Amino acid sequence: MTNIKRNMIVTSALPYANGSIHMGHLVEYIQTDIWVRYQKLKGHNCFYVCAADAHGTPIMIKADEEGIKPEDLVKRISKEQYNDLNDFGVNFDNFYSTHSPENQKLAEDIFKTLKKNNHIYTKEIEQAYDEEKKMFLPDRFIKGVCPKCKSEDQYGDACENCGATYNPNELIDPFSTLSSSKPVWKKSKHYFFKLNNFEKSLKEWIKQSNLHKSISNKLSEWFEAGLQDWDISRDEPYFGFKIPGESKKYFYVWLDAPIGYLASFLNFAEKNQIEYDSYFNSESEYELFHFIGKDIVYFHTLFWPAVLEGANIRKPTSVFAHGFLTINGKKMSKSRGTFINAKTYLNLLDPSFIRYYYAAKLGPSMEDIDLNTGDFVARVNSDLIGKLINIASRCSGFINKQFNNELSETLDDFDLYNQFIEKSEDISNHFENREYSKAMREIMLLADSANRYIEEKKPWVMIKNTDQRDEVQKVCTQGINLFRILMIYLSPVIPKISDGVVELLNEKKWKWNDISQPLLGTKIKKFKPLLTRIENEKVEKMMVSSSDDKKNNSSNESNITIDDFLKIDLRVGLITQAEEIEEADKLLKLNIDLDGESRTIFAGIKSAYKTNELIGRQVVVAANLAPRKMRFGVSEGMVLAAGPGGEDIFLLSVDEGAKPGMKIK
Ligand code: MSP
Ligand code: ZN
Repeated sequence: MTNIKRNMIVTSALPYANGSIHMGHLVEYIQTDIWVRYQKLKGHNCFYVCAADAHGTPIMIKADEEGIKPEDLVKRISKEQYNDLNDFGVNFDNFYSTHSPENQKLAEDIFKTLKKNNHIYTKEIEQAYDEEKKMFLPDRFIKGVCPKCKSEDQYGDACENCGATYNPNELIDPFSTLSSSKPVWKKSKHYFFKLNNFEKSLKEWIKQSNLHKSISNKLSEWFEAGLQDWDISRDEPYFGFKIPGESKKYFYVWLDAPIGYLASFLNFAEKNQIEYDSYFNSESEYELFHFIGKDIVYFHTLFWPAVLEGANIRKPTSVFAHGFLTINGKKMSKSRGTFINAKTYLNLLDPSFIRYYYAAKLGPSMEDIDLNTGDFVARVNSDLIGKLINIASRCSGFINKQFNNELSETLDDFDLYNQFIEKSEDISNHFENREYSKAMREIMLLADSANRYIEEKKPWVMIKNTDQRDEVQKVCTQGINLFRILMIYLSPVIPKISDGVVELLNEKKWKWNDISQPLLGTKIKKFKPLLTRIENEKVEKMMVSSSDDKKNNSSNESNITIDDFLKIDLRVGLITQAEEIEEADKLLKLNIDLDGESRTIFAGIKSAYKTNELIGRQVVVAANLAPRKMRFGVSEGMVLAAGPGGEDIFLLSVDEGAKPGMKIK
């Protein structure tokens, strides 16, 4: 590589702000972070920006379930996600949100330009509609019997049993997963983006953008099948940005999400007095790279460059896609207990371990990578502890104790030192090409040769002979310098440990070129263990608590035991007051007497009961439910009812002989 300073903007896909960061996400954020740290280490001007992906139906629904505003949900979750990523050493220059004024302005401007340039048209389409929820249903919110293999409970777009894909209107006995009601088919006007206008310019872009073969192969398939125009609008209710000139239509989340890359950079540029325009309106000087997972290649290599082209904005320099994480050879899944949250890992293990392990497995292709727990423990202990840290711990003790912390004035073996530097170009290219596993292999081979060197010199034997004292100092200084080169190479991967070594050696933050000057005649600090072995038990604990997580948070994925059931404190309650809440479609506010104790409970029974039929009625109450904050207040329990919904909701009634507060067994 040349020494020319590059200007680069790098992104990872924006995590949906509706769940926790898990080990699968981390493949991507760690992969990107290593690349960015490497670029910075090489002295390039590189910015890493990301954001919360705030919009869309699932986030709206989750917020609704919690009775809070989607804005608040997004704030809470994205803060948590940011903190988890930060704890793994993922070092964003900016982490913003797609629900931001910058993004809204950019999205609107881009939309208007696309429209002006004739890349947008409207058309009526027919879609599944949930009459109870009063909303159109995305394919994932409709289930039914697969039209091909007849297996039950399949999503509206594809069958998990036979793999068939179809339209939701082909499902047999379809139902809405939100209300269980049968969807009706309803027409509405939608905005479409003419992807087809861009076939030629996309092909041009693909030629220049150095995409990995696995991506360009996929693209050829898609071109062959023909490019479909893209529906970029959604009807209310929706959480997103309103389409200019419309009062009830919004941009589809995937229109404004990638624009969020630009918005995050714009926000960063404003905070740091960088000229935004020079980044985004000139293709020649600045490079733009997106790291993504294999599931979102279509969005990033067709829609996104086409939207940019149509809006007269520069296109990405390249897009890098990785595969999916499997755990012990299996898909990550909550019900199998192979779904490991970032937090669960952090509670037990050092992030450096997984950063190294992913690096040791990652290449530039879209192949899946497996976290095999046995291999993880063995690999990390053998490479990081057995090979790497071992070099330092064997040498620094002598320097600390025998030589008053001082390194010798010269090296014992300059040739060996040079062999380590000679590898720098290969290793550097591997990082640049995202061939991390190759880089790790080279580095560990060097670690082997450093250990062999120490093994041959045997400073622990020489030290017994006073004539050889100087030589011991030189040998240990050599060992420490070899270790230092390896730690510079590894600093993008295990930055926390490298920082510890910088500190140990009394140095300033490293640059890649610092390898060319050995550290001689200076004082080092007292060696402290930089990293200790992974204990197998901790990894086992992580797996066990991941399957516990599943028990705790997924009522529909596993059964509860009779003991779980008996924990519910069911009591007779007397409804003393019932009020309508105007803004709520479903909720009534009830005051319920449990033997002198009055509770406020919100119940979703408005469609089935009038307030005046309720007062004086005795019902079954789950009395020990943790109070839950809802939009209209805190609910202090739950009233039991059954039925499919709408007018058919039936409160469980209690015999007249029962008294409020009585326990139900
Ligand atoms: N919000 C979209 C991206 C919008 S980018 C303009 C999204 N979010 S996500 O939270 O579902 O995923 C974020 C990234 O994590 C994606 O690149 C996705 O491929 C990656 N991964 C999510 N699960 C993964 C695994 N199990 N394994 C590896 N990567 C995974 O998609
Ligand atoms: Zn099927």
